[in-house]
Amino acid sequence: MDLERLLSDRLAPAFGAVAGGPVDPLVRRSPRADFQSDAALALARRLGRPPRDIAAAVLAHAVLDDVGVSAEVSGPGFINLTVADLALADMVSGLAGDARLGVPVTAAPQTVVVDYSAPNVAKEMHVGHLRSTVIGDAAVRLLDWLGHRVVRVNHLGDWGTPFGMLIEHLADLGEVGATHELSMGDLDGFYRAARVKFDADEAFRERSRLRVVALQGGDERTLRWWRLLVAQSERYFLTVYDLLDVTLSDDDFRGESAYNDLLAEVVDDLDRLGMLAPSGGADCVFPAGFSGRDGEPMPLIVRKSDGGYGYPATDLAALRQRVGELGATRLLYVVGLPQRQHFAMVFAVARAAGWLCPPARAEHLGFGSILGADGRMLRSRAGESVKLVGLLEEAVTRATDLAQQRNPELDAEAAAEIGRAVGIGAVKYADLSTDRSKDYVLDWERMLALDGNTAPYLQYVYARIRSMSRRAGTTARPDTPLVLTLPAERALAVELLGFAAVVGEVERSLEFHHLAGYLHRLATAFNAFYERCPVLRAPDELRESRLLLAELTARTLRQGLHLLGIRTPERM
Ligand code: ARG
Repeated sequence: MDLERLLSDRLAPAFGAVAGGPVDPLVRRSPRADFQSDAALALARRLGRPPRDIAAAVLAHAVLDDVGVSAEVSGPGFINLTVADLALADMVSGLAGDARLGVPVTAAPQTVVVDYSAPNVAKEMHVGHLRSTVIGDAAVRLLDWLGHRVVRVNHLGDWGTPFGMLIEHLADLGEVGATHELSMGDLDGFYRAARVKFDADEAFRERSRLRVVALQGGDERTLRWWRLLVAQSERYFLTVYDLLDVTLSDDDFRGESAYNDLLAEVVDDLDRLGMLAPSGGADCVFPAGFSGRDGEPMPLIVRKSDGGYGYPATDLAALRQRVGELGATRLLYVVGLPQRQHFAMVFAVARAAGWLCPPARAEHLGFGSILGADGRMLRSRAGESVKLVGLLEEAVTRATDLAQQRNPELDAEAAAEIGRAVGIGAVKYADLSTDRSKDYVLDWERMLALDGNTAPYLQYVYARIRSMSRRAGTTARPDTPLVLTLPAERALAVELLGFAAVVGEVERSLEFHHLAGYLHRLATAFNAFYERCPVLRAPDELRESRLLLAELTARTLRQGLHLLGIRTPERM
């Protein structure tokens, strides 16, 4: 049972009666009671009545005692809400017997397309792709667990003019040589070498131009080489996904090229709808509401002056396919904030063309940058963008070293396993625990610390509970009567009851820092409980009850971290 919701549902009609219209009771956790409602204060001005009077009137209407809740007016007009021990115990017992920890499967399943990761062929994944991959995968996991039909789309950058130069470079190296070079995982090296030739050599440039034409014209040999580039890159990306422990697979690649056959139709339809306007030799759409700094309307270029289609046309075609063919009603795009305007314009054009209409809606889940310790965009010492694999390997090495230092009797294999779960978990958690629209600083010490709002802290609390259960020698029966008396025990119980509300909120907002923050509060409530309430040394009845609370905490931490894509080792 979602306690916050229950209280809100009980107070809402009472507020409605007093205010003469719907009111959100604004229930939240309280430092003085279990919960409090702040709505009377906001209403006071509107109704021209003292807030305490309103609060008292609301309480005269509210039905609360059948659910074991007592209420009182407090301070300037808060309503403090306290749940009776027995009622609280009852609700927590409900969680213990529920494999889903109180989180219902959705009553309104949707088809959700999650567009994420989307690196570019023959280019290293950079930290922006890391964020997209981590956030997108959390969205996939959460929505899937809630019972939605989730389609992962890895919108690989696998088409466009750079392929002329890349394929020419491949031709120079020969298939075998190029395959070898690419299989070393040095995509940037390959790209750079092609670029250098392109910049220095006029003949190479000309060959590259012709190669683009051959590629677009479907020339067999050119296509074979292009496929080789794509396949080698995909293989490499899959090794990164494996290291990163994300659910993306081989089946999820659906690169830009997959929409090639749909592009002409998209542009023709826009033309037929009268939405196309020529501008500088290109075909553009000028969606309403977008203007540049000079106040001029902004174009979305759907066909370039050379007749080619680009990134915007591909996104329009993809969107139409996702709604029309896949039947998606929720379209998510996990892409950095610099592309905010691009997506806003694509969505606006799609709406105007009638390709995106309710119930279908599109959301750009934008995110900020990862910064180095100097507060600037993360760069390698040579000034290049940081190679993602290097960063992940460093995380794993650091976490493995720390595990070994803390626990010298660990054998190498166990340490490596813990190091991987903790290192990768730390990277993901650092990302997911900050508001995604903000930049954040990559700080190894902080990310890997065993205290603070970090993955290792949560993993540590989990492992601590598991070790306690091992020492207890039994697991508590889910129907063990719960005894909640001490404040720390009650506080943990209230926290446990909050899981469903947080998951429900994140389902809507996809702001994972709310889930991370919740897990951190839960772990902290557990530590406070564990400090004050002995478990294994408690008398029988209490021991079982506390063991059950602890195990419920472990299950919730595990499930919550799992939704974030983070592992929970049994020992640390
Ligand atoms: N490949 C692009 C990049 O690296 C991201 C693609 C995002 N998805 C999309 N549908 N446009 O910036």
